[in-house]
Amino acid sequence: MIDTVARTSIMGRAIASGAVALDVINIRDFSIHGTKRVDDYPYGGGAGMVMEPEPIFQAVMKAKEAAGSSAKVIYLTPAAKVLDQLKAEELAKEQDLILLCGHYEGIDERVLEEVVDENISIGDYVLTGGELGACVLMDAVSRFVPGVLHNDESSLVESHQDNLLEYPQFTRPEVWHEKAVPKVLLSGDHQKILEWRHAQSVERTKERRPDLFERSYKVTLLYFGSGAASEFAEKLSVSVSRYPVLLDYRRAKLVKQKRSFGASDLVIVITDTPEETSQRMERISADRSPLIYICPEEEPQQIRAFFEEHGFCQKQSFRLVPEPDASHTEELAFRIRKLAGEFLKK
Ligand code: ADE
Repeated sequence: MIDTVARTSIMGRAIASGAVALDVINIRDFSIHGTKRVDDYPYGGGAGMVMEPEPIFQAVMKAKEAAGSSAKVIYLTPAAKVLDQLKAEELAKEQDLILLCGHYEGIDERVLEEVVDENISIGDYVLTGGELGACVLMDAVSRFVPGVLHNDESSLVESHQDNLLEYPQFTRPEVWHEKAVPKVLLSGDHQKILEWRHAQSVERTKERRPDLFERSYKVTLLYFGSGAASEFAEKLSVSVSRYPVLLDYRRAKLVKQKRSFGASDLVIVITDTPEETSQRMERISADRSPLIYICPEEEPQQIRAFFEEHGFCQKQSFRLVPEPDASHTEELAFRIRKLAGEFLKK
């Protein structure tokens, strides 16, 4: 099943091009009975069969021989946290993954304790086996592997990555079944289009996935200092959110304005003149907003107290490095999105 699914469409193309490699190991080949049987009755009784520990152990060891002993072993099971976009992105950073697919009622717990690094479910329903789950995981993870998607198939930050669903899309014809494409999309006004799309994403998420909306957040990047700080803010913004707000706090007019942030605002401050922080940000207040502070210093102590007084809660600082390249920016953006998920967990 895995081979059939994985060798078609975009996954198939990724494997053929060498961007992703796939090896399939059949646990039945490691049967200890001289047959293909790898299951037995459950101790304590109950319906169904349980997979024996030894064939699983041998199969995983075989996989590790090929992939390396540091390869992460993931067990696909409905009894686990459900896969999400951030987890898929995180797993794509691993060099090798071993996906363990069970059948029947489950797998002997002792071998799971020994070999599994992480349990993942693909949804709150029970499949007949883990193979389809493995295919789903492989597909979602592969999309983050460089070379798998063509440029026009990918975007830096996608639907779900900032906990908002995708906005509605339209293509030609302009009128179809007497339904016209929303006028704003024909206006050519990029700012208006962005605002419309954001509003649509918000509406849709509230309606269809209120649970996800609870965990969504608005990203504001505020910067001051030299051109390097503003340049980095701009680059980082598109990797952190689809709808970032950029505030240039070199501008006296903005500095003078009062501004307040709420608990679902993620505020990112970027500067290479940290000594100006309290003066530039004195009119800003926050109500338990999480804060990311990016400056050239390792641990900007005096600034911590300033932010606490102004109502920011969880804080994390990162170093602003000279001339950051694209991979550094991407990595930092990923860490920030991951932190935001933790900060905003209800
Ligand atoms: N195996 C059976 N059901 C599953 C699920 N929902 N996710 C992952 N693996 C499974």
